Amino acid sequence: MRFKDIGALASVQGPARSVSERLSRRCYSVEDMRKLAAKRLPGSVFDYIEGGGEDEASLKRNRSSFDDWAFLPKWGSVEHLDLSSTLLGGPVAMPLTLSPTGGTRLFHPDGETAVARAALEAGVPYGLAHLSTTTMEDVSAATPGLRRWFNIEPTADKGLLQAVLDRVSNAGYEALLVNVDCRAIGHRERDYHNGFTAPPSIKPKTVIEGALHPRWALGFLANDAIAFPNLDAEIPEGPLSSSPDMWRTLLAGSYEPTDWDDIRDLRSRWSGPIILKGVVNPKDAVIAAELGIDAIQVSNHGGRQLDHMASPLDVLPDIAEKAAGRLEIIVDGGIRRGSDVVKALALGADACSIGRPYLYGLAAASQAGVAHVLKLFSAEITRTMMLLGVSTIQELREEGRDLIRHRSEAFPGITPTPEAQMAYAETRSSR
Ligand SMILES: Cc1cc2nc3c(=O)[nH]c(=O)nc-3n(C[C@H](O)[C@H](O)[C@H](O)COP(=O)(O)O)c2cc1C
Repeated sequence: MRFKDIGALASVQGPARSVSERLSRRCYSVEDMRKLAAKRLPGSVFDYIEGGGEDEASLKRNRSSFDDWAFLPKWGSVEHLDLSSTLLGGPVAMPLTLSPTGGTRLFHPDGETAVARAALEAGVPYGLAHLSTTTMEDVSAATPGLRRWFNIEPTADKGLLQAVLDRVSNAGYEALLVNVDCRAIGHRERDYHNGFTAPPSIKPKTVIEGALHPRWALGFLANDAIAFPNLDAEIPEGPLSSSPDMWRTLLAGSYEPTDWDDIRDLRSRWSGPIILKGVVNPKDAVIAAELGIDAIQVSNHGGRQLDHMASPLDVLPDIAEKAAGRLEIIVDGGIRRGSDVVKALALGADACSIGRPYLYGLAAASQAGVAHVLKLFSAEITRTMMLLGVSTIQELREEGRDLIRHRSEAFPGITPTPEAQMAYAETRSSR
């Protein structure tokens, strides 16, 4: 090859003109975005996102359960591929929602507002945490048109509950996401080892971590202190942000035991959709349907609460068999690829939800980072459906069970006969 031929082959990319362009040259998967977030955040803050309860068995199984399912694509033309569908009576651009995550401004000062804007742009609903670091009203004001859901815990204090529901309704939230997996707080030992508190308290380690992550430290110091303003009106002693052990105060101290009667009571108080979040027991799914609950989010809280709680994907087929058609089914936990979404839909889910993936995007690049994660999901769901041979979400849900197999299931239709195996071995040896 002559020098001028080599010159003709050389292609030099100019500098990226926007953050989005830089991300699209650098992050080809959620895992790439995770690595970028790990660089941007102090180790203890990143661990707070990453960690799970006790031995993190649920956390690990959430991911590995997806590897147990294999696709059986069908041949045929795929035309007018369309990811849009409906959820709780409204449109979604793809079958994905953003799950509530408390303390979001800790990961980037733009916090919940940046996440909500990216969700609006992508046409997917966003569940705001009760423990958000931006008020529910500010998120609403920034994103008219977004399908906003609000996350609450069941409570026996009906005066407090009604006050919260009125505020949520006035702020224009369409649905309630009600936790049924938070009777106690998961034992997240990474946080104890790291001395992590929310909001962070200043210790020598915090100062060192801040110095090593100046971009994060500057954002943290130059903006309003991390607080949980949705709670301020509810806790008479004043902002919970001043409590050193806020999570315990809220979840173990302030709330009385609650049961199905409280869910029935909630149903009578809230006329919009209710989603029970944290259901993995098929019997609970059936009771929820009987009480007129609109949807369940099959979830083990991303492995952060009860360790060894079943992986949502493992229980999904059973739950779908007993409750599909009676209420809608959303699945979260370990979803990192569009192919994971396609697997869950093939097994009976109406939609999936993500927590950590969008937090990686937020930590790495604010709204553009979350938007990039959502673009990755959209592109991956599209590609997977194309290769699987399905054109619409409805087709995927109707035919999905024939397009996916668990590795423990027999493959009767495609197991070669002994004769066929021998014939195959002969062709290989004669090559
Ligand atoms: C940092 C962090 C904070 C969370 N905070 C809440 C919360 O306030 N309320 C809630 O219902 N779930 C919370 N979750 C759980 C998520 O809503 C979701 O169930 C989980 O993250 C899904 O698993 P994934 O992270 O593997 O996608 C949180 C998760 C993370 C990672």
